[in-house]
Amino acid sequence: MIKLPIPLLHTSYEVLIGKGLISQSGELAAKVLVPGRCAVVTDSNVATYYLEPTLASLQTAGFDPVTFIVPAGEKSKSMSQAEDLCQQMIAAGMDRKSSLFALGGGVIGDLAGFVAAIFQRGIPFVQLPTTIVAQVDSSVGGKTGVNTSTGKNLIGTFHQPRLVIADPHTLETLPDREYWEGFAEIIKHAIIRDASMLESLPTKRSDPLASLIARNVAIKAAIVVADEKEENGLRALLNFGHTLGHGIENAAGYGFFLHGEAISLGIIAALWLSVHHAGLSDSILQQITQLLLALALPVTLPNHIDTDSILTSIGKDKKFERGAMRFVLTKHLGSAYVSSEITGQDARAAIEYLRTPS
Ligand code: NAD
Ligand code: GLY
Repeated sequence: MIKLPIPLLHTSYEVLIGKGLISQSGELAAKVLVPGRCAVVTDSNVATYYLEPTLASLQTAGFDPVTFIVPAGEKSKSMSQAEDLCQQMIAAGMDRKSSLFALGGGVIGDLAGFVAAIFQRGIPFVQLPTTIVAQVDSSVGGKTGVNTSTGKNLIGTFHQPRLVIADPHTLETLPDREYWEGFAEIIKHAIIRDASMLESLPTKRSDPLASLIARNVAIKAAIVVADEKEENGLRALLNFGHTLGHGIENAAGYGFFLHGEAISLGIIAALWLSVHHAGLSDSILQQITQLLLALALPVTLPNHIDTDSILTSIGKDKKFERGAMRFVLTKHLGSAYVSSEITGQDARAAIEYLRTPS
């Protein structure tokens, strides 16, 4: 088992990475939480595979779990779903001493983490991430929240988990599309912090991922520890590819693209803007585009997704502040910075580039 500490100012927790850990989630959680009444929030796909071993482990460790299963997919990351979960938890007799386990991908982690943050003004929760996106990125750092029809993650709060248990064995049941989408966030980490990671990416599904997951968690952890609440500009670098990526995800309609697929397009747009406004070499843009293509990620924006809808959506994105569009750009691989020089016209040109990248 790999253990990575997340030492924050007011709280500290560990990310545990290891094959088979899902079946030990109860005993591991009992080291950081008093066992008792708890909610297990999961989705309809994940429940099929991992609910039973999770419940068994929790019960053995003395927890008294109640299960809440939401429909799989981004549409469940909504205020109405969060409210519904809160109502069901009240009806199930849960109170301030209860805890919550988020068993699933980033949608479940963000949604259930948000519920844990607002239920009875906040209860402790544990992340049990089951996708690559969630294991390398979303389960760490405490960003929780839901989408609105107008934009991604527009309602949310910071609520750090007490523990993250990432079991790479669970990734084996991911369908191909859901497997490869996770590499968009890994490539983002490589672009902003660790270019050499691009040489260590798997080429086939059977390649082991534990050390790659740990490498990504370490990158994210270092940034989160230095800027927990995105206040000093460092954590904002994790938004590389996300301003337009979120706009595309929203404009396409939640569920059309998986998150990592929209971020693939957002990364290409951010690289194109970096070539034109930060002096990045065009060969890097071509190299990363080919890499994303090789990982079966989208590199071309379908024409039916309208440019104005994307721009409207990013206008409502939290990253669009006081009229200045903040974009994360890179001058060379392995580093990034926040620019406030990108205009709406520049963003429009980047979106148009995505229709015929070459
Ligand atoms: P997801 O949670 O919807 O999972 C993708 C699909 O895989 C779903 O259909 C799910 O049911 C299925 N699935 C999950 N685990 C499985 C498994 N082990 N076997 C089989 N099927 C499985 O999506 P995601 O890509 O994991 O996460 C995307 C979300 O994460 C987005 O909402 C994004 O905004 C958010 N996110 C948040 C942060 C953060 O810091 N909080 C960071 C990155 C992404
Ligand atoms: N996924 C961006 C962040 O955690 O800040």
